[in-house]
Amino acid sequence: MSSTYSLEGYGQMILDAVRTAGYREALRGAVTPGAVVLDIGTGTGILALMACQCGAARVYAIEPSDLIYLGIELAAANGYADRIHFIQGISTRITLPEPVDVIVSDLHGVLPLFQQLIPTIVDARQRFLAPGGRLVPQEDSLWAAVVELPEVYKKHTAAWSEDMYGLDLRPARPLAVNNVSQAEVAPENLLTPAQCWSTLDYYTVEEPNVRAELSWTMARTGTGHGMAIWFDTILAPGVTFSNGPGEQQVYGRCFFPWPELMNLEPGDLVTVNLAADLVGGDYLWRWDTRILSQGQPERLKADFRQSSLLGAAVSPASLKQRASSHVPVLSEDGKVDRFILELMEAKNTLGEIARQVAEKFPARFAGEGEALAHAGELSLRYGRPPDSKYWRDS
Ligand SMILES: C[S@@+](CC[C@H](N)C(=O)[O-])C[C@H]1O[C@@H](n2cnc3c(N)ncnc32)[C@H](O)[C@@H]1O
Repeated sequence: MSSTYSLEGYGQMILDAVRTAGYREALRGAVTPGAVVLDIGTGTGILALMACQCGAARVYAIEPSDLIYLGIELAAANGYADRIHFIQGISTRITLPEPVDVIVSDLHGVLPLFQQLIPTIVDARQRFLAPGGRLVPQEDSLWAAVVELPEVYKKHTAAWSEDMYGLDLRPARPLAVNNVSQAEVAPENLLTPAQCWSTLDYYTVEEPNVRAELSWTMARTGTGHGMAIWFDTILAPGVTFSNGPGEQQVYGRCFFPWPELMNLEPGDLVTVNLAADLVGGDYLWRWDTRILSQGQPERLKADFRQSSLLGAAVSPASLKQRASSHVPVLSEDGKVDRFILELMEAKNTLGEIARQVAEKFPARFAGEGEALAHAGELSLRYGRPPDSKYWRDS
């Protein structure tokens, strides 16, 4: 299985000294000699290796991607092969033979509200953590501020303007300004103090969705382009780091643009209702902004309603296709895949599957080679690996 991260990406995470040294420091405090540790999303095994350095007796290291095989090599190279039990799979679908004393993970994206981070931690905490066990990280806080970011804003919007090679590309602008992106933010870009939007205590969190209001009374003049959000983390008591403006950690900061730039004056009241809802595999963001001149309700300067759903290029047809009332009709590609899966279930070799598929769907495949490549993809996605020593899916 391939990973969303490249080897270079894993390397960058390791090279982030504040992050990685922080994790090592936290593990030193949490892992007592003989402890049992669970590393969720071990990647190339770095945190599992560190847990061994700290004296762990056993580490269960879970990772769905094939890069786990590199972790196995690194464990052997460092003399920890007998202490780290690598399991290729997703933590929520596996069971462990014993409770663990420590659960360590770094499942953050730019923000902790990323993919299935919260349901994953909640599941692991409930099913695997021994009473009194430790979680690393233990808490993340999300911070927000109004920002002046002309260059980043230009990148979002400049192409979608009135006169681009004599063409009016403005109809695409509403999509562009509803896109949340990673952005460089320096302390001097902040027009307001940072405000804490939410704190995720991983010992107690249950609910993956977050919504809360932010509000600032402007103390200075500036051009507001939107909001920046980042997180600070408590890995363990006394072991913390911030991803605030100006910090260099790999996670970065998130920019939530406004539909238009706003001239802000001292006394203006900026209120943002920010909501993050986990839908399917990732978060849908909504940010509704009201700006009142001098804080006076009758002097409304802006009333924006924005959502990352409006920033996704989703056609009305594909939305209808997902509706609960929709009766799906299998496409030609669906029929091909169903045929291949049936042949897989009947225990045919991929070569035999490719031969039959190419014969049955000659318009879809130029030959057996193309059919083999496609069947191989399905084998990777839905088949069990031939060497299933490390593989678990239930
Ligand atoms: C940000 S990387 C961290 C890699 C490594 N632990 C480190 O700290 O450098 C997150 C990893 O978690 C994995 N992952 C995400 N959700 C997972 C889950 N529920 N079970 C196992 N692995 C997961 C991803 O495939 C990815 O390799």
